[in-house]
Amino acid sequence: MEMNIALLPGDGIGPEVVDQAVKVVNAVAKKFGHTITFEKALTGAAAIDAVGLPYPDETHEVCLRSDAVLFGAIGDPKYDNDPSAKVRPEQGLLLMRKKLGLFANVRPTFTFPSLIDKSPLKRDRIEGTDLVFLRELTGGIYFGEPRGRSEQGDRAFDTCVYNVFEIERLARMGFEFARKRRKLLTCVDKANVLATSRLWRETVQRLAPEYPDVKVEYEFVDAVAMRLIQWPKSYDVLITENLFGDILTDEASVISGSMGLMPSASLGSDIKLFEPIHGSYPQAAGKNIANPLATVLSASMMFEYAFDLQEEANLISEVVNRSIEEGIVTEDLAGDGKAYKTSEVGDWLAEQIAK
Ligand code: IPM
Ligand code: MN
Repeated sequence: MEMNIALLPGDGIGPEVVDQAVKVVNAVAKKFGHTITFEKALTGAAAIDAVGLPYPDETHEVCLRSDAVLFGAIGDPKYDNDPSAKVRPEQGLLLMRKKLGLFANVRPTFTFPSLIDKSPLKRDRIEGTDLVFLRELTGGIYFGEPRGRSEQGDRAFDTCVYNVFEIERLARMGFEFARKRRKLLTCVDKANVLATSRLWRETVQRLAPEYPDVKVEYEFVDAVAMRLIQWPKSYDVLITENLFGDILTDEASVISGSMGLMPSASLGSDIKLFEPIHGSYPQAAGKNIANPLATVLSASMMFEYAFDLQEEANLISEVVNRSIEEGIVTEDLAGDGKAYKTSEVGDWLAEQIAK
């Protein structure tokens, strides 16, 4: 198969972790006889520094002519500490999601047997957790208008807006995911307070009879925040709006033991995007110490979701599992063992694939 992949390394540790994913993707391509071409483009602070915009048109064009986008991370502290900054790196990511029509962010949470004790949560609570969030990605308070500041600057406002079609397409995807899994769908909302949440609940209730094989439960977001770490095994597929999903998926990553492990896929159009859920980790940038596994696992999701190549996807997950079991891991997971460099982990994974 021929694949054209847009590479958007972004900021901070982004370039380092994306480099490792490229090694792995190349090794897979060689093994299975695929032809892969990569085209690199700028996003985030790197793009602002170069051309003044966080998601330049040239970058969008690179994405549009690709079959899939592999993304690193975005964000730079020099903007976080300057609330008056007019352009922010994060706008690049948001604009890219919007312009590519990526309305669903698939964020799985699972455990690795050899890492259970790395999680701050008790073994019996988390062992066997296997859940997936479908986070709505192009609507809600992240995009709603009006937003901004009053003229005097003493008031700020954001607006949470959802249209039925936005909820429906995400919910249908949730039902389909549940069908292929354990057939339980949880609609996460705040319907006791928010009008948008009531529309979510109403929409999911209307669709439910079309999926009689799927059990649907409705739960308030604050209660989910609690049960997610108390009894994560009780969830299968969770659907939720943009901001709730942002927050809950960071929380869920604690279950797996490290934020450096969890991948994601953004779906909704022909061009799908794959990225780790972690941020740009600026303290580690350029040090060759960041965990590349979330990005490598995002590449595994790319083979599965963008190219429907399950065998290739599985092989990547398998070697990632092996690296964890054999302790070929970066400092966040090394414990008392040897801490490998980012690039060493990537090299090891690529070698294992080539075998
Ligand atoms: C994420 C990130 C982004 C988000 C930021 C960087 C805009 O936290 O992908 O979860 O909030 O969506
Ligand atoms: Mn986030």
